[in-house]
Amino acid sequence: METVQNQTVLITGASSGIGFELARLFARDNYHIIMVAHHVDKLDHAAWQLQSEFSNVRLNTIAIDLSKDDAPSRLFNHVQQQGWQINVLVNNAGFGEYGLFAESNLEKELAMIHLNIIALVHLTKLFLPYLLNQGSGKILQVGSVASFTPTPLQSVYGATKAFILSFSEALQEELKDSPVSVTILCPPATDTNFFNVAGAQNSKIAQGDLATPEEVASTAYKALLAGDKRAVPTFKAKIQVAQSAILPDALNATLMHKQSEETTKPKKSSSKKTSTTTVVSESAALPVTEAPAPVTATRKRSTKSSSVTNLDSAAASVAAIDPTIAATGLTADNLTASNTEAIPTPASKPKRSTKKTQ
Ligand SMILES: NC(=O)c1ccc[n+]([C@@H]2O[C@H](COP(=O)([O-])OP(=O)(O)OC[C@H]3O[C@@H](n4cnc5c(N)ncnc54)[C@H](OP(=O)(O)O)[C@@H]3O)[C@@H](O)[C@H]2O)c1
Repeated sequence: METVQNQTVLITGASSGIGFELARLFARDNYHIIMVAHHVDKLDHAAWQLQSEFSNVRLNTIAIDLSKDDAPSRLFNHVQQQGWQINVLVNNAGFGEYGLFAESNLEKELAMIHLNIIALVHLTKLFLPYLLNQGSGKILQVGSVASFTPTPLQSVYGATKAFILSFSEALQEELKDSPVSVTILCPPATDTNFFNVAGAQNSKIAQGDLATPEEVASTAYKALLAGDKRAVPTFKAKIQVAQSAILPDALNATLMHKQSEETTKPKKSSSKKTSTTTVVSESAALPVTEAPAPVTATRKRSTKSSSVTNLDSAAASVAAIDPTIAATGLTADNLTASNTEAIPTPASKPKRSTKKTQ
């Protein structure tokens, strides 16, 4: 199906929050959207929601843990194999980890560095020459107001966002005479799943005045299409950025520390543990899956309950065309219903004996 604009956008972290709202804006303008995120069921649900709202939009979903070393290459190769011509890359996937660095979760922080920095650099490395060759293209890099200040209690997160700002501003200079633009989005604290994943839901910042993902995405979308260098949504965030530029870093750090403290005494809560499991442990086990064909607009909500089965069954089709790829417990029976595929990571590749049982 041809889109009105005949343009394709690939959005990482498109299953919720800012990424999902960006996908919605691209859908409204009838882009072909490739939605990338980690967890299959959530992504499947997001695609269903979008397709319900925009029945004619062309959607593909790819579930992949981008914190893994080879994930960006596998994603890029897959996009190439499918023949999708990307016009816009949105590097949005990211998460944080809350707590004193001496006590916070190293495994989660290393995965965060992999996702927020390494995957973003790697995807940019792969897609930028491609866009340059194509003669046009746009890249949105999702930083933060935290890109401009040290962030005590989210020390690693803030550092990853500072990296994104520095890296992307360098690219803007290198690309200033090129047909490819790089826009940096610097959202303020926004009402998404971010604080739950970071374990920061009790922090003053999370319980304060939050921007909506819709307004953040709207500012980002306009700036991206205009080829602007920077998008800072909300007046408050603009003040924050200006303040960070004026004040010495040590003072910025003190102010940020105060804002980030917990409002109630820490129940160093179970939610933090839960989020760690979600982001780190599950990530190691999840396969890379793709739903290459659109989720139909008529798809009933009830099919969602079987989305895992459908995705699993789709994995069988990939296993069938690539003998090096197999998936556990799969049948191809539901393939038509879900139109999903799976490309398991090398780590999750099942043993031969499993495949024989298919
Ligand atoms: N919310 C804020 O206050 C705020 C402020 C400034 C900047 N930001 C930035 O905005 C971006 C979007 O965050 P959000 O606020 O919209 O949070 P969100 O609702 O939690 O969305 C995060 C997205 O990233 C995906 N993701 C997480 N880990 C992944 C992995 N290993 N591989 C692939 N995808 C992964 C998530 O998919 P799964 O759920 O499947 O993992 C989800 O789609 C992030 O870069 C964040 O740092 C947020």
